[in-house]
Amino acid sequence: MRDDHLLTSKHLTRADIEGILDRAAEIDADPGALAGKHDGSLLGLLFFEPSTRTKMSFETAMKRLGGDVVDMGSVESSSVKKGETLADTVRVIEGYADALVVRHPRQGAAKMASEFVDVPLINAGDGAGHHPTQTLLDLYTMREAAGLDDLSVGIMGDLKYGRTVHSLAYALSNFDVQQHFISPESLQLPREVVYDLHQQGASVREHEHLDAVLETLDVLYVTRIQRERFPDENEYQKIAGEYQIDMATLEDATPELTIMHPLPRVDEIDPAIDDTDHAAYFEQAHNGVPVRMALLDQFLGGSA
Ligand code: NCD
Repeated sequence: MRDDHLLTSKHLTRADIEGILDRAAEIDADPGALAGKHDGSLLGLLFFEPSTRTKMSFETAMKRLGGDVVDMGSVESSSVKKGETLADTVRVIEGYADALVVRHPRQGAAKMASEFVDVPLINAGDGAGHHPTQTLLDLYTMREAAGLDDLSVGIMGDLKYGRTVHSLAYALSNFDVQQHFISPESLQLPREVVYDLHQQGASVREHEHLDAVLETLDVLYVTRIQRERFPDENEYQKIAGEYQIDMATLEDATPELTIMHPLPRVDEIDPAIDDTDHAAYFEQAHNGVPVRMALLDQFLGGSA
């Protein structure tokens, strides 16, 4: 089995992360430099859950590198509908593509799938597990806006089911960052993640309310309550609508506060914030392209 799949952010070192972010910055500065470099390469897209940004930015990145994508399409229109297993599906599609991107509702699915293939496999979200490529673009955005050291970062919302949060927290533990986790008790960060972060020497605090820390934050990373992962709709309804921010919330924030969100947002961020200097979430989504170009370039044969 190959060992260069990207399944979580747990094993990414500071040097790994900085290498990809530096490469993405070079690409951002000169977007045409890699045009045609991976002419003829194909990326297999297997999305078993909805996606807009992740799928389209992978596709854009691959095409900007000169390659193309082969897309399984929706679950409804594929053989998955006939009962095909994930293991069989990836074994077939690896024969068509040079690398695979997999999103699946089941936690651990990407890791399981990676054990059946000989091409690099990238996890684009496995249930409430991980989403490491989102983390790389989050870090890219954070670095551009505020640097990545001596930073106070608040991560708010659904910390239990939010896979972007899990991947981001592990990656941030490589940097000199104070991490503040803000959520209702029922949506706290999983205890094993908190344990791991402590083991890695990360500086971690948990809060129930944003106002306890807002004025100390350099970055506030807001997340959507992951409705589709709640076993009970009533539990979702109890929490929906909390942990929102609007212009009044920001009265206690520093003028430099950077607000991020992996998107899609539902009602967590009032659109009135979009036009302020705080808002970095659309820029964050755009950064998915250079970051995924840097990553795919690495996966498809290096940066020579
Ligand atoms: C996130 C995801 O799929 O985990 N979306 C994304 O990839 N930008 C966040 C979410 O769905 O809330």
